[in-house]
Amino acid sequence: MILSIESSCDDSSLALTSIKDCKLLFHQKISQEKEHSPHGGVVPELASRLHAQKLPLILKNLKDFLQDLSCIKAIAITNEPGLSVTLIEGLMMAKTLALSLEIPLLAINHLKGHVYSLFINQTACIFPLSVLLVSGGHTMILEVKQDSLKPQFKVIAQSKDDSFGESFDKVSKMLGLGYPGGPIIQSLAMHATEELYSLPIPLRHNKELSFSFSGLKNAVRVEIEKQGEHLNASALAYAFQKSACAHILQKCELYFQNQQTQNNNIKHFAIVGGAGANLFLREKIQALCEKYSYELLLSPLEFCSDNAAMIGRAGIEEWKAKNFSDILSLEVSPRNTQLLF
Ligand code: KG4
Ligand code: ZN
Repeated sequence: MILSIESSCDDSSLALTSIKDCKLLFHQKISQEKEHSPHGGVVPELASRLHAQKLPLILKNLKDFLQDLSCIKAIAITNEPGLSVTLIEGLMMAKTLALSLEIPLLAINHLKGHVYSLFINQTACIFPLSVLLVSGGHTMILEVKQDSLKPQFKVIAQSKDDSFGESFDKVSKMLGLGYPGGPIIQSLAMHATEELYSLPIPLRHNKELSFSFSGLKNAVRVEIEKQGEHLNASALAYAFQKSACAHILQKCELYFQNQQTQNNNIKHFAIVGGAGANLFLREKIQALCEKYSYELLLSPLEFCSDNAAMIGRAGIEEWKAKNFSDILSLEVSPRNTQLLF
C-alpha cells in the first residue's frame, strides 16, 4: 500500500491506499478551520504549528490501525503548490518515513491530486477529461489527455486575481462571518427570500478564457458600505454567489463552444476542489453539461476539500510510472501550478 500525506494548507491528513485495487484503507484528516476562523483566513505560521501537532497524532492512529508498517511500499507527498511553511511539515514527515522504512518517495502536485479525487476507490481513470478546478488557491479549466503512458495536464484557463473559493472567504470576512467562507455564504444564500441586489458578472463582455473575482469582491464591499445597517446579508450572499457562479458558467460555456469548433473528442467534464462542493455551482454546471452533451463527473463531497486520499490515488499512478523522487533533494515548490511532468 501507499501512505500519503497532505499538508499544503490548513488540513492535516494521512491515508493508506491499496496499490492492487486502489481501495482506500485508512483516511484521517484534521481540519484547522476553528483555529483560523477568528482571523478570517489561514494564518500560515499558525497552520504550520498545528500541522506539527496533528500530523504525528494521525500517524499514531495509522500505526495503531496497521500494526505492521512493512506493507507500506512508498510515501506519496504533496510538495507543490501551497504554503511553503505547511508543505515543509508534510515533506519532513514523508522524508523521515521513507528513509527509516527504506521505501521510495512520490512527489505529488496538489492540483493533480484534486483531479484524482474523482477516482478514489476506483482502478480506472477516465481520460481524456476536461476539469473545472475550484479551490481556495486556484480557479482553472484543465485538460487531461492520456498521451502514450502518462496523462498530460494542460492549463486552459486560470484566474487573473482571486480564486473562486477565496472570494467566498473574503465576502464572509467582510460580513464579519467566519472561515471558510464557502459553506457559510452558501447556506446564507439559501435563506435569501428576495432578490434585493444586483452585482456585476466579471469579464462578461470579454471573450478571453480566464477568470477574475476581485472586481466582484469590490462590488460586494461597496454594497455593504452603501447599505450600512439596512444590509440584508442573506440577499447579498445570494447575489454574490449568483454572479460568481454565472461568471464560471459563462467561461465554461465559452470553453465548450471552443471545443465544438475544434472538434475535440473530450466527452467528460469534472468539477474538483474544495469549492466544487458548492451546490448552486454543481446544479448549474450539470445543466450546462447536458446542453453540450458532456458527462459530468463529481468528486464525492467528502473528497472535494483537501485530503490525503486523493494524494494517495495520484500516488498510485506515479508508482506505476516508477516516478520516484530523490529523498534528499526533493524540495517544496509553493508556487508551481504548471502541472508539467
Ligand atoms: O481545495 P480546498 O480544500 O483548499 C485549497 O486547495 O485551497 O478549498 C478550500 C476552499 C475555501 O476557499 C472554501 O471557502 C471553499 O473551498 N469552499 C466553498 C464551498 N465549500 C468550500 N466555496 C464555495 N461554496 C462551497 N460550498
Ligand atoms: Zn486544495
